[in-house]
Amino acid sequence: MSALDLSPEEFQALAARITDLATRFLTALPTLPTYPSVSGLQTRECFGGPLPERGLKGAALETLEDVVAMSRPPSPRFFGYVLGSGEPVAALGDLLASILNQNVTAWRSSPAAVAIERQVIEWLAAAVGCSGFGGSLCGGASAANLMALAMARDSKLPAGGSHARPAIIYASSEVHMSIPKAVALLGLGRESLHLVPCDASWRMDVGALEAAIAKDVAAGGKPVAVIATAGTVNTGAIDPLEPIAAVCRRHDVWLHIDGAYGALAALARPDRLRGLAHADSLSLDTHKWLYQPVDCSALLYRSTAAAHTAFSQTGEYARTFGSDPLEAFAFFEESMELSRRFRALKLWLSLRYHGAEAFRTAIHADLQHAADLARGIGDTPDLELLAPVELSAVCFRYRGGVVDSDLNRVNAAILKRLIERGRVYLSNASIGGRFALRACFVNHRTSDSDVAAIIPEVLAASREVL
Ligand SMILES: Cc1ncc(COP(=O)(O)O)c(C=O)c1O
Repeated sequence: MSALDLSPEEFQALAARITDLATRFLTALPTLPTYPSVSGLQTRECFGGPLPERGLKGAALETLEDVVAMSRPPSPRFFGYVLGSGEPVAALGDLLASILNQNVTAWRSSPAAVAIERQVIEWLAAAVGCSGFGGSLCGGASAANLMALAMARDSKLPAGGSHARPAIIYASSEVHMSIPKAVALLGLGRESLHLVPCDASWRMDVGALEAAIAKDVAAGGKPVAVIATAGTVNTGAIDPLEPIAAVCRRHDVWLHIDGAYGALAALARPDRLRGLAHADSLSLDTHKWLYQPVDCSALLYRSTAAAHTAFSQTGEYARTFGSDPLEAFAFFEESMELSRRFRALKLWLSLRYHGAEAFRTAIHADLQHAADLARGIGDTPDLELLAPVELSAVCFRYRGGVVDSDLNRVNAAILKRLIERGRVYLSNASIGGRFALRACFVNHRTSDSDVAAIIPEVLAASREVL
C-alpha cells in the first residue's frame, strides 16, 4: 500500500469536512464583506513555511479556514471585472472531474468526457446562434483568442508559403489585451495589429476599418484577420458584427469575434448579438456570463479543417486508430492543448441541473440590474454616466463639485475607499482617459437590493474622501 493511499472511510471523512466548510461559506456569503481585510504580509505568514517532511494528515485541512477567510468571496455585491459568480452545482462537478482524472485528449482516453464536451460545445454553439460550429473548451478567452488567431494565420497565410508579407490583424482601440498578447506570441510582430478607431459608443468604426484594409492592401500588406468584440471589457460595447462580417467577406479576411464577455447574452437577447454566426471563430467564457467556476472558456469555429490545419501535429505515440468518427475523435487535433482537464463536466451538470431557462432568466436579471443602475445614476446629480450601457457593464464617476483636473484622482480615491468599506465591490475602467467606476453584472446571486446599495455606497465613500 502506498503512503499516498486513502481508505474509503478517510476519503469520506475528508470530503465531509470540505463540503461542510463549503456549505458554511455559501451560507455566510450574503453577509461577508465583499473584500477580505487582509495584507500581503498576513497571507505570506499564514501560508508560508517549509514543506512538511511528514504529512499533517487531517490537520492539513485546518488552514483551509484561513484560505476561505483570506479569499475575495463571490458575494452577491461583487461587481468587479467580468467575473462570474461560481455556480455550486458546477463546483461539485469539478470535484468529481478531478476524482475521475480524465485526460480529455481523445475519445480513446476518455470516452464519456469527450462525448460530454462535444455535447456541451454543440449546446453552446446553438445557444449563441452558431449551430454546426465545432470547438473545444479551454482555460480562458486569452487562450481561445490565441488559438483563433493561429487558425486565422494558418488559413489565410499558410505556413510553408511566403512569410515575406507580414500578416495584418485589425481590432478596435477597445480590444482586450489578450489580442495584442496573442499577436506577439504568434510572432506576428506587435506592429501588425492595426487598431481601428471607435464611434462615440465605443464600437468599431466600420468605415475606418474598410479604409484601413484598403490602404494596407494598396501598400502590399496582407490583411489576415479582423477581431470584432461582442462585449468590450470596458463598456460592454458590441462592435457592428454584420457590417464587419461584410467587410471581411469582401477582403477574404478571417473574422474572429471575441465574445468572452458578451456572446452568452445571446441566450437572453439574441437580437442584440445578431451576426455572431458570421464568425469564422468565436471565443466565449462560461466562467463569465454562464456563472461557471473558473476556468471554462470555449473556442467555437466554423471549419474543423481550419482547426486541423493549425493544430494537427500528431506524434506517432498519440495517433488514433480506427475510422469510427466518434471513436477516432481527438481534441488534440483541434486545440493547442494535449493534456486537458474534464472542464465540460461542471458545465454539463450545471446546465442539466438548472436548465436553460434558469440561465436565461439570470442573464435577463443582470441586464435589468445594469439598466436600473444606469437609471439611478441618471437620477443622481452628483454622478455621471460615462458610456452607454449596451450589456451589463456600467461606467460612471462621481462629479459633485470636483474640478475637471481632479476628477480622475478623486474617483480613484473613492474606489479605493469603497472597496475598503467592503459593502460593494466595483472595479475601474478608463473611458477616453477618464477614470470610471465600473459595475459589471454577471452574478446570479445579485438581487435588486444589492444593486440599490451601489449608489449610496459610492456617495458614502465620496463623503469620506472629499
Ligand atoms: C472581451 C474580453 N476578451 C478576453 C478576455 C480574457 O478572458 P480570460 O480572462 O478568460 O482569459 C476578457 C476578460 O475579461 C474579455 O473581457
